[in-house]
Amino acid sequence: MINKISLWEEQMDLLAQQDYVVIDNFLNNNILENVVSFFDAKIEEDKLTKAAIGSTGDSKIIEEIRGDYTYWLDKARDQNELLLFDSLDEMQQLINRFFFLSLSDYEFHLALYPKGTFYKKHLDQFQGRNNRMISMIIYLNENWKLGDGGELKIYPEGKEPSVIEPLMNRCILFRSDTLYHEVLTSNCDRKSITGWMLYQSTPLAAIPGV
Ligand code: OGA
Ligand code: NI
Repeated sequence: MINKISLWEEQMDLLAQQDYVVIDNFLNNNILENVVSFFDAKIEEDKLTKAAIGSTGDSKIIEEIRGDYTYWLDKARDQNELLLFDSLDEMQQLINRFFFLSLSDYEFHLALYPKGTFYKKHLDQFQGRNNRMISMIIYLNENWKLGDGGELKIYPEGKEPSVIEPLMNRCILFRSDTLYHEVLTSNCDRKSITGWMLYQSTPLAAIPGV
């Protein structure tokens, strides 16, 4: 499952104190390898589609805000990724235990930012979509180096912004309702698994592609 599970209390503490926490070497190697090849297969099969935003259906506006392509994960369909879902379940349980919550659902997608794309500063909770509690991203960029771009810039309240490198198998958790963040322009293809721990499940009709 998740590596370094013994540190989870420390990590949850940091999440509570600073609204975010970065966890390196998140997935164990065999899950990671599996996810990386699954991602490549979905690209190969042309299964990623242009991401939308909230209520805006205007593709030109979307282009100016975010440029990623996504593939929503589905436990029933994506049976080869059950170990990944186990890790996500495990993280959900840890969050529930530490914060005395009863989160019972999540939604995750693969995200690909092609060269030249970004996601402007935003919050993951917004009007009409306020059931996202914790945002969770696992980066999948082998050999990422300075200059490749695509860093996550976060704006913790009352503190200087920080820039987080999207390194292979690095996970970031943050509060979806308070932490402003943006994806800086990527200078090469940038891959991640991105998702949200949900307060209640979302009726399908309420998902406009976000
Ligand atoms: C998002 C987002 C950040 C990242 O998808 O809402 O902010 O680092 N992603 O991929
Ligand atoms: Ni976001």
